[in-house]
Amino acid sequence: MSHQQKTQLVDFVVTNVNVMTLDPTQPATYGLIQDAAVAVAGSKIAWVGEEADLPDFDCTHTIDGEGKFLSPGLIDCHTHLVFAGSRANEFEQRLTGVSYEEIARQGGGIISTVNATRAASEDELYKLAKTRAEQLMSEGVTSVEIKSGYGLNTESEVKMLKVARRVGETLALTVKTSFLGAHAIPPEFKGRGDDYIDLLCEEALPQVAELGLADAVDGFCENIGFSAEQIAKIFDKAKSYDLPVKLHAEQLSDQSGAELVANYQGLSADHLEYLSESGVKAMKQSGTVAVLLPGAFYTLSETKLPPMDLLREHKVDIAIGSDYNPGSSPLCSLKLMLHMASTQFKMTPEEAVKGVTVNAAKALGLTNKGVIATGFDADFCLWDIQHPTELAYTFGVNPLVKCWREGKLR
Ligand code: NIG
Ligand code: FE
Repeated sequence: MSHQQKTQLVDFVVTNVNVMTLDPTQPATYGLIQDAAVAVAGSKIAWVGEEADLPDFDCTHTIDGEGKFLSPGLIDCHTHLVFAGSRANEFEQRLTGVSYEEIARQGGGIISTVNATRAASEDELYKLAKTRAEQLMSEGVTSVEIKSGYGLNTESEVKMLKVARRVGETLALTVKTSFLGAHAIPPEFKGRGDDYIDLLCEEALPQVAELGLADAVDGFCENIGFSAEQIAKIFDKAKSYDLPVKLHAEQLSDQSGAELVANYQGLSADHLEYLSESGVKAMKQSGTVAVLLPGAFYTLSETKLPPMDLLREHKVDIAIGSDYNPGSSPLCSLKLMLHMASTQFKMTPEEAVKGVTVNAAKALGLTNKGVIATGFDADFCLWDIQHPTELAYTFGVNPLVKCWREGKLR
């Protein structure tokens, strides 16, 4: 065919691949298209389909996928990867039977990480966060959510969010930030939770919002965190800045946090081991994603499972995150979460993979990511596997061969 007759200019085409599109409009499991090809123009997917139907693109660069599998870039929709210090001592305490809540009540837990994070410089925090982000990227993560919440005063919360932004600006990784000032009551506000909430609403959140440092506002609704009423005040403030909300809800007890965040059309409710049916229904109504965190379930030796059957029955979208943090989930691997979502939460491997692609994108409001379809961002991973289920089935091997983010090979 002559040059003039060629259809569209694209930058490269990946041929000879089995594409796990995760596109809900594709009927097969994993949205799989076998013997497929994907064309990329700039940062976007220009075409995907069976290779036999590949249009005659004007393209000189073809990559042979060698019959391997291509998935969307993985999305870790819940992390706390900016922090300093270590909680190894608490790990040992918990092994002797001291509970996560007891440690928090004794002034350890989140507050221990707050002390170390406040003392660390922005550069020190950046170095630590960069290493962790690169670890996630090595297993195919192309987008990550990063929370503040270990600063607990205006200055240190701003510092954490600046570090998170810098991670996104310096690595080939999309970063969505969440302001989690309402993570714990800092020592200087002990016994004065309402005063701390006022500080967050009157000073910290306004500053964070004006600096454009947060993409969403989060909170910890729990006995050892904040009441639903206190969280509602933060959410009202978030709304006044047009910031979407999400919530650590029903992790250790049922506080009706899911209903609360659903009332605010929240992006997600996260953890959810103690979620009730009314919470499930409220989430369905508002389109709030259920973000399940098998790493925290496992690390805290939790035995109460999230209500998987109710979530399925009411067709709530389920995402999976690493919750990577030094206390409840010191597990820096989204691949491990795929495995644990299946083995612990009895999610099908397909549900688990949806949880780190299409549904994780929804949990972050990333409308251009999470599936392989025309017009979406060209974020994808080439895996040396024989079946898509291997992404959840194995752990301790890294089958990632190549990874592209917004059309660029990393
Ligand atoms: O998602 N639940 C509250 N926050 C974190 C834990 C933070 C910590 O222990 O440092 C979580 O599990
Ligand atoms: Fe968390």
